[in-house]
Amino acid sequence: MTSCRICGGRLHEFGDFGTQPLSSGFLEPDYIGDEYFFRLALGVCASCSMVQLMEEVPRHLMFNGHYPYLSSGSSVMRKHFERTARRFLETELTSPDHFAVELGCNDGIMLKTLAEAGVRHLGVEPSKSVADIARRLGIRVATEFFQESTANEIRETEGPAQLIYAANTVCHIPYLDSIFRGVDALLATDGVFVFEDPYLADIIEKTAYDQVYDEHFYFFSVTSVAAMAKRFGFELVDAERLPVHGGEVRYTIAREGRRTPAPSVAELLAREETAQLTHLDTLKTFFRNVEQSRDDLVTLLKKLRAEGRSVVGYGATAKSATVANYCGVGPDLVSFVSDTTPNKQGRLTPGSHIPVRPREAFEDPYPDYALLFAWNHAEEIIAKETRFREAGGRWILYIPHVHVV
Ligand code: SAH
Ligand code: TMP
Ligand code: ZN
Repeated sequence: MTSCRICGGRLHEFGDFGTQPLSSGFLEPDYIGDEYFFRLALGVCASCSMVQLMEEVPRHLMFNGHYPYLSSGSSVMRKHFERTARRFLETELTSPDHFAVELGCNDGIMLKTLAEAGVRHLGVEPSKSVADIARRLGIRVATEFFQESTANEIRETEGPAQLIYAANTVCHIPYLDSIFRGVDALLATDGVFVFEDPYLADIIEKTAYDQVYDEHFYFFSVTSVAAMAKRFGFELVDAERLPVHGGEVRYTIAREGRRTPAPSVAELLAREETAQLTHLDTLKTFFRNVEQSRDDLVTLLKKLRAEGRSVVGYGATAKSATVANYCGVGPDLVSFVSDTTPNKQGRLTPGSHIPVRPREAFEDPYPDYALLFAWNHAEEIIAKETRFREAGGRWILYIPHVHVV
């Protein structure tokens, strides 16, 4: 693709991670067939400044009945989404007949609180594996991709929604024109469309290149989201930085002229302008830092192997597919990856073919080093794995640069 998926403008490519597999395509250990590969590369639009992937992976290959990712695997995220839901109950969902829709509700981590409060709600979640878990909690879920046609059907049967919410989902969706037409059809006149996703400024500052993988199609900034909202007849009325998943922004979008924009929108726009966040030179510098980070990690892992140290991975994240495949890290450098997700355990990581084992394997016995692929949950994980440190173990982190703690 050479043109912007939002506005059709010219895309300037600034980083190439080579061929990559599906980030959640964990393989059975005896699998001998071909894996799906695509070219993972980044570009920025010269017109609207949206940073995006150069190539799109068909959505049904990623989001289907085998999608393994469970949002509720982190206690910090469970608290984050409970707080989020409680705030919506105070600000947007104030009347008993209000209606809330969540795109990508996954296992129900956020809607659970709304359902328990008796709020009329609907999750739209195409991955049946996780939608079924939410349904078992008493949450209403449509196993579908949200798009214009889905929105029209929901509007016909349920009426308008005061709140349309999505966490870590809008950046997964290349066809945002259809999403915004759907929001236009479904959102109440004074309703809001709220979404939160990894923030480009945090990705650049932390050289968090592993945020780039098949599912993450867009890398939002306040600048690009404000332009996108305007293009589709809406207005960005709030932008709030969040500490979760390595740094995100929560965007609140309303119909044009319906809400007074919060001061944070202008503040963050000015800050991005000063930092030249979406300028090609800034992005090229980011990618030089990515290459340095890769070289440092490979050097460290090879040195540890030469010294006969044991190294395992912690967290078979989707993000780690980019690290393992871009850096060429396989079972020779990292003997296995420990992960709590049942549908990842007993399988091999995509492309790099490192075995995934349950958490129990991590302490049986503790390794010399653990490569923290789930660095976005570092505080939670390091706090609960104190015995690993006491046993002499050390964490390897590659965010914001390669270091050992
Ligand atoms: N909101 C959760 C899940 C994020 S993972 C959290 O923040 O933890 C992204 C989710 O978006 C997946 O469960 C995927 O199935 C879903 N998804 C992908 N495309 C979608 C679409 N078009 N409409 C709704 N959900 C979608
Ligand atoms: P995420 O970074 O996309 O949220 O994925 C985190 C992955 O790490 C997920 O596969 C679950 C796993 N995990 C653990 O194995 N142990 C933990 O304590 C946490 C928080 C996550
Ligand atoms: Zn554009």
